[in-house]
Amino acid sequence: MRRYAFVGTGSRAQMYLAALLGPYAELGRPVAFCDTNEVRMAYYDRLAGSPLSHYDPDSYDDLLKQCDVVVVASPDHTHADYVSRALRHGVDVIVEKPMTTDQAGVRQIREALDSGAAELTVTFNYRYSPRNSLVKQLIPEIGEVTSVTFEWCLDTVHGADYFRRWHRDKAMSGGLLVHKATHHFDLVNWWLADRPEVVFARGGLRFYGAENARRRGLVPRPSRGFLPGDPFSIDVTADERLRELYHDGEHLDGYVRDRDVFSEGITIEDNLNVVIGYQRGASMSYSLHAHCPWEGYRVAINGTAGRIELEVVERAHAAPGGAGATIGAATASANLGIDLSAAEERSSGAEGVRVRGTRLTLQRHWEPARLIPVPAGAGGHGGGDAALLRDAFLGARDDPLHRAAGFADGAASVLTGIAGNESLRTGRAVLLEELDLPG
Ligand SMILES: NC(=O)c1ccc[n+]([C@@H]2O[C@H](COP(=O)([O-])OP(=O)(O)OC[C@H]3O[C@@H](n4cnc5c(N)ncnc54)[C@H](O)[C@@H]3O)[C@@H](O)[C@H]2O)c1
Repeated sequence: MRRYAFVGTGSRAQMYLAALLGPYAELGRPVAFCDTNEVRMAYYDRLAGSPLSHYDPDSYDDLLKQCDVVVVASPDHTHADYVSRALRHGVDVIVEKPMTTDQAGVRQIREALDSGAAELTVTFNYRYSPRNSLVKQLIPEIGEVTSVTFEWCLDTVHGADYFRRWHRDKAMSGGLLVHKATHHFDLVNWWLADRPEVVFARGGLRFYGAENARRRGLVPRPSRGFLPGDPFSIDVTADERLRELYHDGEHLDGYVRDRDVFSEGITIEDNLNVVIGYQRGASMSYSLHAHCPWEGYRVAINGTAGRIELEVVERAHAAPGGAGATIGAATASANLGIDLSAAEERSSGAEGVRVRGTRLTLQRHWEPARLIPVPAGAGGHGGGDAALLRDAFLGARDDPLHRAAGFADGAASVLTGIAGNESLRTGRAVLLEELDLPG
């Protein structure tokens, strides 16, 4: 039975721990936690049902002596160090996306993998979502892919949440082009079986942040905390999980979960437009907006034999009020595999103009469009999380879609975002080869 340790005992790690305590209990057992915050590790002890060994970042090498696999779910900028040290130590790694945030991190992980002592899995759960898997299966129907348009809309509930905590600091998250778009860039790399070659990006912080608030004449606001009646503030005490994980541990490390989205200090973008050229000739126009009134995405893939269109409405409208509870429920839904679809359907007005749901269309040249039914899986990400966990814990076996991802996939997607950031900084198109793209 393999021994598992967890680095980062925040929101995301719970999905992995629950899997190990439930369906994969025969396979391995949790033995240790590593975090900067004792309150969060104690919360995880309660989830585990008994106290496990606790380590702070300085004693990570001791943790590595105690385990066979480490699950890394700490803030993005810390991944490379934890991943590479584990690999060198012969400990297998399951790392959350993004694999890392900068070129140095990519190199560090590659060098550690070259030692051949252990294996790395990067958990790209979006690949496993049934609708995204179906797109992969449909690609041969449209011939050779020539271009893609891809728009991702984050709403004023989920999107705003990136501006409250560590993600708002580009040095910690790489900005949304790395932190969030790594999912989307990976999907396209995988769908097209191709790699990006050149990236040109424009964008900036246009909505959140103190300067935008001043420019739009918003009255001064407290830099954190809950403002009754204000849809942009959250009450971290309104949701039990948020309170226990973050509010109750704040005094230990100053991790503030409810910073005002219109306060000073945000260094990431909220509006991004990117053009990407791929090695085999296809191109993509991609955009990400973080303050939309609804949440979801639209993808169109053009090929020499037709076109695939995927339209997904994850939340039809962001309702004001109770944002703390909404965020709590949303993170529980995303990270714990709880299906909130029925409740969200009701709250978002299923009878309205925009309705929660998925529409996948295939249209081959000279033929009418066909609506492709998307199977509804149970649990998080339409059943995708369960399949991802199966691959992560059991190893990928006989998957014709090759959804399990490793270093090369993790690197290709983050390097696209890193090139995008470089393009934002310099104003020019950035070749991936300038960034030392491996493999
Ligand atoms: N695949 C997905 O859909 C998905 C969803 C959510 C989060 N994630 C990823 O999971 C990771 C964690 O995100 P989260 O939402 O759980 O964040 P979080 O802030 O809830 O948790 C992060 C935890 O890491 C701890 N931490 C901070 N610095 C640390 C350090 N130096 N060493 C060890 N621990 C440290 C914090 O105390 C906290 O407990 C991120 O990389 C994120 O991108 C992925």
